Amino acid sequence: DWTMAEFRKTKIEEIRDQVGDGKVICGLSGGVDSAVAAVLIHEAIGEQLTCVFVDHGLMRMNEAEQVVTLFRDHYNIPLIHVDAEEQFMTGLSGVTDPEKKRKFIGGAFIDLFEKEAKGIGGADFLAQGTLYPDVIESVSFTGGPSVTIKSHHNVGGLPERMNMQLVEPLRELFKDEVRELGRELGLPEIFVGRHPFPGPGLAIRIPGEVNKERCDILRKADAIYLEEIRNAGLYDAIWQAFAVLLPVKTVGVMGDGRTYDNVCALRAVTSTDGMTADIYPFDASFLSQVSTRIINEVQGINRVVYDYTSKPPGTIEWE
Ligand code: XMP
Repeated sequence: DWTMAEFRKTKIEEIRDQVGDGKVICGLSGGVDSAVAAVLIHEAIGEQLTCVFVDHGLMRMNEAEQVVTLFRDHYNIPLIHVDAEEQFMTGLSGVTDPEKKRKFIGGAFIDLFEKEAKGIGGADFLAQGTLYPDVIESVSFTGGPSVTIKSHHNVGGLPERMNMQLVEPLRELFKDEVRELGRELGLPEIFVGRHPFPGPGLAIRIPGEVNKERCDILRKADAIYLEEIRNAGLYDAIWQAFAVLLPVKTVGVMGDGRTYDNVCALRAVTSTDGMTADIYPFDASFLSQVSTRIINEVQGINRVVYDYTSKPPGTIEWE
């Protein structure tokens, strides 16, 4: 009879056996997987673990603060917070191709992570929140079609370069099981139940050029959308919901003036693994309420549209 409590105990023993008195470094992304992996490993080996959070300035509203508060204050886990927003914004200027955005962000992320790892005198192990579907996907990628639809970023190449072994305690788990393990470990529900969020963050939700101003506009719209979804009790019924800031300006009227501002698209899908997805069929009244709030409260947006594309043929993200 298999329970999460037993899984937790077994994994803790396994981590201790693997790591011995070695040093472990873990990159936090703000997502569920890396958070659960870090808390589990911390329970197993305590201060031998250091977490590194490379903050690229492409997170959702308040998310960076939440990560820092949870790990430093709540769990007391040694955490290095790298505020790299400026560096990422500079590097992204002029970049419009989606894959080039991913390449730059992935590369800069690894460079910063490596620098911090060296700064603490290196580590013997690199911890990752790799899940079972990631394991299968990377296997099928080598034997399967040579077309990569989107390159997902991780710390590829770093373990070899720094001579680190991998610690991947979640390799046998599916997403829902990781959430269950997170609850078992006492992680707050706001963390555990969180929708998946891509490594390149808001950069791939801003088609065209990314800059801080556009990130700030998108963060505000996205926060309103998610707040309305939570208030309506719909958050857990949805796999992912987010706003996209389009590189298109349209004309509007507000008061007795003409506006000429950005379009915001809303996306919400149901899915079990992200491989296929259906659009979430909101009530029209819900969508018009979100639209009204965004246009009234977010300067820089004067039109809101809803994305009615399933996957396939669409992808979940817009880039
Ligand atoms: P798509 O857009 O390919 O997304 O239908 C499927 C799932 O993958 C996430 N996604 C990413 N995650 N780095 C990530 O870590 C990426 O570059 C990336 N692109 C897409 C997406 O959010 C969805 O959950």
